[in-house]
Amino acid sequence: MKLPNLLEAKKRSNEKVLIKTNAYIIENNLKELGLGKKYYVKTYGCQMNEHDTENIKAILEDMSFSEALEMENADLILLNTCAIRENAHNKVFGMIGRIKNLKEKNPNLLIGLCGCMAQEEIVVKEILDKYRFLDIVFGTHNIYNLPNIIAQTLKSKKTEIEVLSYEGDIVENMPVKRDSKYKAWVNIMYGCDKFCTYCIVPYTRGKQRSRRPEYIIDEVKNLVNNGYKEVTLLGQNVNAYGKDLDINYKMENLLEDVAKTGIDRVRFVTSHPWDFTDNMIETIKNYPNIMPYIHLPLQSGSSKILKLMGRRYTKESYLELYNKIKENLPYSSITTDIIVGFPGETEEDFLETLEVVKACKFDSAFTFIFSPRIGTPAAKMEDNVSLEEKSNRLQRLNDLVNKFSKEANETYLEKIVPVLIEGYSEKDNNKLMGYTDTMKLINVVGNKTSIGKIVNVKVKEIKTWSMDGEIVNDRVSI
Ligand code: SAH
Ligand code: SF4
Ligand code: F3S
Repeated sequence: MKLPNLLEAKKRSNEKVLIKTNAYIIENNLKELGLGKKYYVKTYGCQMNEHDTENIKAILEDMSFSEALEMENADLILLNTCAIRENAHNKVFGMIGRIKNLKEKNPNLLIGLCGCMAQEEIVVKEILDKYRFLDIVFGTHNIYNLPNIIAQTLKSKKTEIEVLSYEGDIVENMPVKRDSKYKAWVNIMYGCDKFCTYCIVPYTRGKQRSRRPEYIIDEVKNLVNNGYKEVTLLGQNVNAYGKDLDINYKMENLLEDVAKTGIDRVRFVTSHPWDFTDNMIETIKNYPNIMPYIHLPLQSGSSKILKLMGRRYTKESYLELYNKIKENLPYSSITTDIIVGFPGETEEDFLETLEVVKACKFDSAFTFIFSPRIGTPAAKMEDNVSLEEKSNRLQRLNDLVNKFSKEANETYLEKIVPVLIEGYSEKDNNKLMGYTDTMKLINVVGNKTSIGKIVNVKVKEIKTWSMDGEIVNDRVSI
């Protein structure tokens, strides 16, 4: 049993990051362990978590498990969790309660919890206290060891807990079962060293470790050869990419090299305003296959609150960066994340946030009420904003954000935009769906032969969170 430890997880050293090209080994006797059995993985977190799930699925299939379409038919259920806010926790514990009933009906059912919540001491303690029927718990650093963890729990018939709280290595030989045949997530870095005072990620994901460019480029080239049209470069702070490498190679260099592979679309998330350089803006401008879409979390419009959050930019420097991006990339769409009700946030501070939203007119924004995460500095700050006030601010913020989302979408009416058609629309099976270059969701009337292609779509109707359109001609993509 290896239990998580937040204090250990917080440590950062200058020790060299190990690149492991053979950490994932599956012993012959485990290759058929899942024969005739089905697995179900439920994902709660960010894109990184989703991508981890793609690794987990591939590992399980290497063990001969096959995917169940519904949880009720599975022999192994894994919950890949997120720790970012309290409500993420509540959802997971609610689900564990539901799964307990399934286990009562089928005692051979294996249940596991992994992802960022597994990295939290308090969660694992709760599992040991109240949820002993869980079979496995593993964290974000040892996914490659899943075959052995499953084998061990089957042997010992006890809850197997293996959570490593250390800075982390880079595992380069993990298999992946991608959800889409057309667009792919590509990790370019792991972890985070920014330690924003409210955030749990630096503790659950370890220190910032950039992958070496050659591995990333190889992965993208492979995707191109396999017909993929779009890659999204993933990291908590993609703009800081390369800062921890022993070569002079930064995000702008990586963007350029990835663009040169010839992939139709390059996206990247998330961009911390702190590390956004002029060179990056220049590179985005120079390569038409780097998408004009930037997620630029603001968090707060008050410099006082930003300082308490440890964000290391001010209201003014954010606006300056925003304006610079818009001047150079006028067609780009910019989205953001905002937290309301951070400790010490006064009505005046909140009004400054609204002011920045009005100035930037974001294409869309993810908005959150501050959620104290145990172990982070902000959790110890006096939480002096009442829940009523927080909800009220969130509502006012959302009203404003939605107004600007709709306005931004309205500028697309009757325009022709490039869309990567991904498949059928969830809401209306007679329609197809995809995203514009600027990351607008659009449902389109068109032929299914367009699925997997980038086509020109004329926008016919605007909604707050999506648009409707029709294909005007197949723009044959490479
Ligand atoms: N790395 C990204 C953010 C990743 S977390 C960045 O630095 O911009 C995604 C979003 O969740 C954050 O941008 C923030 O708005 C929100 N978030 C993170 N911790 C939170 C907390 N404790 N309470 C409320 N929202 C939080
Ligand atoms: Fe969290 Fe800040 Fe790192 Fe983003 S940059 S993951 S908000 S600590
Ligand atoms: Fe959640 Fe972990 Fe991502 S806390 S947001 S799943 S890095």
